[in-house]
Amino acid sequence: MFKINENYLKLPGSYLFATIGKKVNEFTQKNPDKTIIRLGIGDVTQPLAPAIINSLHNAVDEMGTQEGFHGYAPDLGYEFLRSAIAKNDYESRGANITKDEIFVSDGAKCDCANIQEIFSLDNKIAVCDPVYPVYVDSNVMAGRTGTYDALTERWSDVIYMPCTKENNFTPELPKETPDLIYLCFPNNPTGAMITKDELQVWVDYANKVGAVILYDAAYEAYISDENVPHTIYECEGARTCAIEFRSFSKNAGFTGVRLGFTVIPKDLMCGDVSLHSLWARRHGTKYNGAPYMIQRAGEAVYSPEGKEQLKAQVAYYMNNARTIKEGLQSAGYTVSGGVNAPYVWLQTPDGMTSWEFFDYLLNNANVVGTPGSGFGPSGEGYFRLTGFGTYENTLEAIKRIKKM
Ligand SMILES: Cc1ncc(COP(=O)(O)O)c(C=O)c1O
Repeated sequence: MFKINENYLKLPGSYLFATIGKKVNEFTQKNPDKTIIRLGIGDVTQPLAPAIINSLHNAVDEMGTQEGFHGYAPDLGYEFLRSAIAKNDYESRGANITKDEIFVSDGAKCDCANIQEIFSLDNKIAVCDPVYPVYVDSNVMAGRTGTYDALTERWSDVIYMPCTKENNFTPELPKETPDLIYLCFPNNPTGAMITKDELQVWVDYANKVGAVILYDAAYEAYISDENVPHTIYECEGARTCAIEFRSFSKNAGFTGVRLGFTVIPKDLMCGDVSLHSLWARRHGTKYNGAPYMIQRAGEAVYSPEGKEQLKAQVAYYMNNARTIKEGLQSAGYTVSGGVNAPYVWLQTPDGMTSWEFFDYLLNNANVVGTPGSGFGPSGEGYFRLTGFGTYENTLEAIKRIKKM
């Protein structure tokens, strides 16, 4: 008789977005005349930029010709895309990453969920709290996290690094030594950032204790401050301790197109085994490459027109984030994020829980956001709003919130 992977049964139900959906449905059924504004979404809303559409069209046409047809993509991704990434995302920032250290994929979510496969099951992970849930859940599925305590909402074998207003939502070095450290900056959900000096402390620490930093830089394009690193490889020594995940979802609107990449420097070793070679083996065995047309679309992200159009798109979302942040501040809320990230993190007023504030906002302003407690226990008492809506809706939402 077959057996299932029982680790899956340990996963506590992720009721966050299902519960939000249910509450919103109930509300609309009771109040059909009310218009709901959704500022909880982590998905983009603007159409793909013209430079990307052109490139997609051209690649589609090419695929219909004998000489332009492309089958399986090369394991690491097409050279034209990896070269553009190496030049624009790394060389231009003084980061020493070569094109053959880049693995093209169909997005950061799968990569940051799958990367744990190349590490031993007895490695201990450290995560921020609150956190993007994929890092923890993928380790639960693998059987690396011990037992779950529903009361504290924590796993026995995970090191949690609380990110609260006391530490400016940036974690402190953990007391217990981890093997794998998940960091995400600019951060989802808090919108917090890390300075280059602060990140250097983590790189030095990881090199000292022999840990690997799994660095999720999916929101890199939203950085506006000079002292915030765009890649962990701006830090000295990161080549021997860090893996970086990147996505085209939020910098270029590819959430439905799907493209991302992972960087593993060849200097990252465990004894005499290179992690680059392990991931190359895994990638080659379990993945057959992002489509040629999508990789061509990705190449257009780095063209002069693409860069200009996407800068405007990011500015559009960041203008929304600023509108939310400033609007909330002027209404007396305590707010952070929204400067180097499209996420605004607000403290719920009058000691309300995250879910109480969710109901309050839905009922009184007909605005939907995301309760902070859904991202981890340290998110309790907080609430996430995003700049990914339209400008008109964002303005209207803030107007309504101010009237509450
Ligand atoms: C922190 C973080 N990493 C990764 C992803 C997923 O990126 P992708 O769309 O490339 O899979 C998201 C998406 O919301 C995210 O917030």
